[in-house]
Amino acid sequence: MNQPLYVLPGARGGAPAPEVPQAAPPATATARSVGEVLRDSQVEAVLQGLEHDLVGLAPVKRRIADIAALLVIDKLRLNLGLQAQAPSLHMCFTGNPGTGKTTVAMRMAEILHRLGYVRQGHLVAVTRDDLVGQYIGHTAPKTREVLKKAMGGVLFIDEAYYLYKPENERDYGQEAIEILLQVMENQRDDLVVILAGYRDRMDVFFRSNPGMSSRIAHHLDFPDYSQDELQHIGERMLDGMSYQFTDGAREAFGDYLARRIAQPHFANARSVRNALDRARLRQASRLFAQRDRELTREDLTMLQPEDIRASRVFEMQGTGDPPCH
Ligand SMILES: Nc1ncnc2c1ncn2[C@@H]1O[C@H](COP(=O)(O)OP(=O)(O)OP(=O)(O)O)[C@@H](O)[C@H]1O
Ligand SMILES: [Mg+2]
Repeated sequence: MNQPLYVLPGARGGAPAPEVPQAAPPATATARSVGEVLRDSQVEAVLQGLEHDLVGLAPVKRRIADIAALLVIDKLRLNLGLQAQAPSLHMCFTGNPGTGKTTVAMRMAEILHRLGYVRQGHLVAVTRDDLVGQYIGHTAPKTREVLKKAMGGVLFIDEAYYLYKPENERDYGQEAIEILLQVMENQRDDLVVILAGYRDRMDVFFRSNPGMSSRIAHHLDFPDYSQDELQHIGERMLDGMSYQFTDGAREAFGDYLARRIAQPHFANARSVRNALDRARLRQASRLFAQRDRELTREDLTMLQPEDIRASRVFEMQGTGDPPCH
C-alpha cells in the first residue's frame, strides 16, 4: 500500500505523437488504410512487442488488440470527418498480484501515445496514499498535483478501492474520487485513468461508486499464470539478466514453483522474480566461497540445482505455514 509515487518514462524512440484532431478535416481528406495508420503511428511494433515479450495473457492481448483496432478505425473515421468526439479510454485492470497489470499498462500508455490519444505516453503509478491527505484540506491539492503529473499520459491507480472507505463517513478518499471523476470526464482527451486491483474488491467498489463505474470503458481481467507459464517467465527473466538454469536447476525450479504456488502470498510473476533474485544471491555466495578458483563464463552464468533447492520452500509442508520464500 505504501509504495511511493513513481513515474515511468513514455514511449522510447517512438515518433512524436500526432495531435488528436479536434475539428472535422477538410473535405479533401482521402481514405486511408488500417496498414497506413499502423505503420505511420508505429503501433504495430508495440502490439508485436506485447505479443512477443509477455508470456501467456492471451485474453488480455486479444482485448488490447481490439482496443487498438477501435482506436485505429476511429482515426480513419475522423480523417473522413465522420466523428470528432474523443473516445472514452479509462480502463480497469483486475487480477491477482504479479499478473502483469503494471507492465501491460505501460504498453497501453505507449499505444495511446503513438495513436495520438495522449501527448506524452508516460505512466504515473499511485496508490491511495499519493492521492489522499491525512488532514482536512490536504487531499484536493495532493490529488491535483498527481493529476498534473499524469496529464498527457496514463494515471495508474493501484488498489483503487482503498479510495473508498464506507465505514468512515468522513473519509477524505471521497474527495479524491470526486476530483478524479471530474477530470476523467472533462479532460479525457489528454488523460487516461487505469484502475487496478483484485477483481472482487473492484466489483464492490464499482457497485458503491456508480459514477466511477460508468466512466470506465474497458475492463480487462488478468488470469493467474499456469506453472508452465511461470517457468517460461522465469527463463525469460534469467535470459534478460544473462543467467541460465542447468538442466538440474530447471527441474528444481519446476519443483520450487509447484510448492510455492500452493503457499500463502504467492504473487505470480512477482514471486518468480523474487525467487530468481534469491537464487542469484545463493549462486554468488557459492562462488564467493571458492576464493582461489578462476571463474569461467559458465560458472558466472549458470544457476545450479542447489541454488534453487536451498530455498525454505523445500523445508515446508502444506499451506498452513507462515509465508516463506
Ligand atoms: N506475462 C509476463 N511475461 C513476462 N514477464 C512478466 C509477465 N507478467 C509479469 N511479468 C513480470 O513480473 C513482474 C511483475 O509484473 P507487474 O508488476 O506488471 O504485475 P502486477 O500485476 O502489476 O503486480 P502487482 O499487483 O504486484 O503490482 C514484472 O517484473 C514483470 O516484468
Ligand atoms: Mg503493479
